[in-house]
Amino acid sequence: MVSRSAARLAAQAPAIAVAHFRAEEYPYHPRQRPDGYFNLGTAENRLVWDLLEPRLAGRPPLTAADTRYAPLHGTPALREAIAGFLSGVCRRQVRADELVVVSGATGALDIAASALCDPGDAIVLPAPYYGAFDVDLAGRSGARLVRAPLAAGDGFRLDPEAVDQALTRARWDGFPVRAVALASPGNPVGHVHPARTLKDLGEVAARHGVGIIADEIYAGSVFGPEPFVSLLGPEAGLARAPGAHMVWGFAKDFGLPGFKVGVLYSPDPEVCAAARALAYFAPCSTETQALLTGLLADTAWVDRFTAESRRRLAVAYERATRLLDALGIGYVPVGAGFSLWVDLRRWLPAPTFPAEHELWAGIFEGARVNILPGKVFACPEPGWFRLCFTTDWDTVREGVVRLDRFLRAEAARRSAGDGDPAGGRGPARRPPGVPEPGTPQPGTPEPGVPSGPSAPSSPSGPARGARTAP
Ligand SMILES: Cc1ncc(COP(=O)(O)O)c(C=O)c1O
Repeated sequence: MVSRSAARLAAQAPAIAVAHFRAEEYPYHPRQRPDGYFNLGTAENRLVWDLLEPRLAGRPPLTAADTRYAPLHGTPALREAIAGFLSGVCRRQVRADELVVVSGATGALDIAASALCDPGDAIVLPAPYYGAFDVDLAGRSGARLVRAPLAAGDGFRLDPEAVDQALTRARWDGFPVRAVALASPGNPVGHVHPARTLKDLGEVAARHGVGIIADEIYAGSVFGPEPFVSLLGPEAGLARAPGAHMVWGFAKDFGLPGFKVGVLYSPDPEVCAAARALAYFAPCSTETQALLTGLLADTAWVDRFTAESRRRLAVAYERATRLLDALGIGYVPVGAGFSLWVDLRRWLPAPTFPAEHELWAGIFEGARVNILPGKVFACPEPGWFRLCFTTDWDTVREGVVRLDRFLRAEAARRSAGDGDPAGGRGPARRPPGVPEPGTPQPGTPEPGVPSGPSAPSSPSGPARGARTAP
């Protein structure tokens, strides 16, 4: 018997992580696993390993100091190095004492929410939003998440007016709102938010007396013409606002998600003190910190790496969108991140979230392609899916081609008037045991436990307890 809060958390495995582990356990292989999955659901930059490998392999040998306790909110050397790096990214000076380093941006988000909110306090999020925010921001803090729906007609662009309305509504409902939280650049829709929009958002937050938590983990992964503008930068006008907090990490911009190193910036000394206390529960290993300090110290390498990473992201985006264009599959054009927000509304059997789930289940089990449905990202309307394009081109191409083939077969089946889902070829049939994404599944295997295609075919299955949120 566990506590109520532990039980609640255990039942909340982020659907993104769950689908990731399911697809990764049984990847496609032309001979060994021809019925395996094409994983286009995981936001990892798999295009830069050849750049990282020589750096990581040539690292200095371990010393005794690397095996010992270091300050649990980050070594002074790493915080100095990150402060220098972020000062460049944000175009203003960031100080090491304003930073708390923890095990991943996930940990930093959890700490930010816990430092700002008591249970029942609210955080407003423009939706769609990064699906793991549900767990990261609310799982331990007990905060209530309030959605500010963005408009499909506007490509789900950040709209301060929608945030304003959600803040007003939350007030009316009697929720004490403490912050607005968003990913900037966006995820799942990789918009680079313009300075004017961030400024307006800052004014809305100030008018309502709430803070902002900007998750800028994709700050260095901008590949389009629109330059990144940090919430902390001079253009947004919030540089020293006491309520402007920022999260960043090495997972995206450095292609190092497995290192699990993130950072919380806050200009508020009280928040920093609380975050340092909470970091005690989520520190990074001393050895990993030493390695990353060395990586950042070579600023010439960092500049070359980030420039080449962006160039590769641009190429991968261009290829993926050209293929989608050729196949007539719609998407929202974006300038940052690792994913495309793909419009599959016309393939929904009905404009509902259950129908979206059916289509997703068909794609996952029928086409063996892992993309994630909009519901996972709190999308205000059904039919949108997140498709990641930052893995090798063969996988992206074949995954998209299979997706297209599946959708065409589905459309043909429907136009032939085959309304019988038991026909078994498409999304109208939910494979046995496939629940809604995010539904907790008792008794399912832990990640890493091999399972074949005959195992329960749910992305909600194998990751119980997994807290990585790709
Ligand atoms: C917006 C955003 N924040 C945080 C994370 C998680 O970062 P980390 O792996 O450093 O915990 C992700 C990963 O997908 C993300 O997209």
